[in-house]
Amino acid sequence: MDLKAYLGARRASVDEALERLLPADEAGGKVLKAMRYSLFAGGKRLRPILCLAGAEAVGGAPERVMFCACALEMIHTYSLIHDDLPAMDDDDFRRGLTTNHKVYGEGVAVLAGDGLLTQAMVLLSDPALSPGLDPARVLAAAQEVTRAAGYQGMVGGQGVDLASENLEPDLATVQFMHAMKTGALITASVTSGAILAGGGADQVEQLARYGRRIGLAFQIADDLLDLEGDPARLGKSVGADQAHGKMTYPAVVGVSQARTLGQDLVSEAARIAEGLGEGAEPLAHLARYIMERTH
Ligand code: IPE
Ligand code: IPE
Ligand code: MG
Ligand code: MG
Ligand code: MG
Repeated sequence: MDLKAYLGARRASVDEALERLLPADEAGGKVLKAMRYSLFAGGKRLRPILCLAGAEAVGGAPERVMFCACALEMIHTYSLIHDDLPAMDDDDFRRGLTTNHKVYGEGVAVLAGDGLLTQAMVLLSDPALSPGLDPARVLAAAQEVTRAAGYQGMVGGQGVDLASENLEPDLATVQFMHAMKTGALITASVTSGAILAGGGADQVEQLARYGRRIGLAFQIADDLLDLEGDPARLGKSVGADQAHGKMTYPAVVGVSQARTLGQDLVSEAARIAEGLGEGAEPLAHLARYIMERTH
């Protein structure tokens, strides 16, 4: 399988759907402009692609879960806008551009994040976007995504991240924090796609095991890229974690051990995907990409 071509095609279809689901509108004023600025700044679209691949893994049609894929990207983009604020990581570059708050001001950046999160709820609860899908499954997927985004997932993990700045690094804390701030939404991306596409409980459970592993590995890779990555390729500044006293995997176990742990996690995830049959082949390739990526 040509993963590069697969990712390119999927990214294009996600971008097209996002444009349709959050079109430019003068009436939306500065807040909508700011929402679209970050949403279309050029992210990897990993979470929506995982949602589409989750549907594919259980034999479903990826296009039918596109509304959920787009909701995930909106939630993720909101989390980046808020993560970059001076009150959080205070970053100036994101997705190759000046950060939202530097362009639009902090007040509008807060609202742009709020607007993207709320728009995700609009997509998840709009029956017109999920014709032919079982409404009980749409509700279950919405529950999966929103729970993962909130205090038991991403928001909670971001809270632990702030509370852990400049503390003595320890493995249990960083593992818990990464699983929440990044792992939860990545896991929900895969499982929500599978739930919508009619996946059975066993399949969804296997995909959750897969998601937890790649989700943790994804943040380990992000920590490593902050130390060793090329800012031009990454589209964001490097070295910021150390400067802010962030608790990261390399800070706790060192660079080489962090890489080994990440590679073990993605190998396990790839094996889980391989056990799920032909439809899950893209997920097996995606797992390996998580630790190989340079941006
Ligand atoms: C960055 O996410 C924030 C983390 C959770 C590590 P991505 O690396 O997926 O960022 P984009 O979406 O490609 O910009
Ligand atoms: C952010 O982690 C995780 C989120 C939920 C946004 P980081 O703070 O390490 O992400 P980057 O490095 O700024 O993209
Ligand atoms: Mg952060
Ligand atoms: Mg950050
Ligand atoms: Mg980082």
